[in-house]
Amino acid sequence: MKTSENAKNARLLKIVVMNDLHLVAPGTAAPRMDTTARFEAALRNASERHGDADLCVFAGDITDQAEPDAYQMFDRMRAGFPVPQCVTLGNHDDRNVYLSCSQDAETDSNGHVQWRRDIKGHCVLVLDSSEPGEERGGFPPLKLAWVASQLADARRLGLKAIVILHHNPAALQMPVDTYRLAAPGELLAVLKDSGADILQVVAGHCHISSAGSWGGLPCATLAGNHHRVEPFLRGRNGRQECYEGPAQYGVIVSNGSDCAVHFESYVGEAEPMDGALFPKKVDQRFEEL
Ligand SMILES: [Fe+2]
Ligand SMILES: [Fe+2]
Repeated sequence: MKTSENAKNARLLKIVVMNDLHLVAPGTAAPRMDTTARFEAALRNASERHGDADLCVFAGDITDQAEPDAYQMFDRMRAGFPVPQCVTLGNHDDRNVYLSCSQDAETDSNGHVQWRRDIKGHCVLVLDSSEPGEERGGFPPLKLAWVASQLADARRLGLKAIVILHHNPAALQMPVDTYRLAAPGELLAVLKDSGADILQVVAGHCHISSAGSWGGLPCATLAGNHHRVEPFLRGRNGRQECYEGPAQYGVIVSNGSDCAVHFESYVGEAEPMDGALFPKKVDQRFEEL
C-alpha cells in the first residue's frame, strides 16, 4: 500500500452498516424473497469494495423469526468477512435466543446488546433499541444510563460520536412513524444533554433510505437487505408499493469533521451507462486529505 494510502487509512474512519437482514433458518421458506442469497451478495459486494473498513455493524432484524438456526447461519455466513464486526438487535430478533447461540455476543453490564468502539478519534456507539415484545423497541432507564456514561467518556476523551441503532428515531412523515422508536425524545435528550459532538445517527427498521435530521442531529436511515418501501407521504392513500430493490447497505466515512453516509446497492442497481459518455470518470483524483 502506498504511503499516502496508509496516511489516509490512519485518519479516515469507515464503517459498513448492514441492517434488516431478515434471515430465516436454513430449509424454511424465506419471507417474500431469498434473504440468505441477498445477504451473501451484500457480504461479497462489501468484501470487494470495503474490505478496508474499520468496522461492520449488523444493525438489527438479523433474523425474521428469531430461530436459533438462523442466528447460527448468520454467524457462519459472516465468519469469512474480513472486517471487524459487531451486532445489535431489532424487533424481529429475540435477545435471549441470540445470546444463547451467538459466537461473539457482547453486552453491556445489564445484558443489553450494546457496544462501544473507539476508532480513529471517534466513539462508535451501537445501541440496542430492541425490547422484548415491543415492536417499537425502546430505551428504558438502564439503557439510557449506559448511553449517557459512554457519551460522557467520549466528551472527556475528545472523541466524535457516531450512533447506530435499529429503530429509526426520526419522523419520516410516513406510516412507519407509527412504529418508529418508542419515546424517541428520551433518547434524544440523553444524546443532546451529553454535550458530546455527535456527527451522525444511522438507523434501519423502516426499509427505506433517507437523510435528514432528528431534533437537530444528522440522521440517516438505510433500506437494508429486505424489501424496500416507496416514500409514502402524508396525503397519499391506497397501497404503498414495496420493491425488491435496491437492497442497500450503508457506508459511513468520517474524517472527524465531515461525515458522509453512502448507500451501496447490491441488488437491483440500475445498469451502468456507456462509459464513453463520461470520459472524465476514468482515473479520477480524490481531494487531498
Ligand atoms: Fe426489518
Ligand atoms: Fe425492524
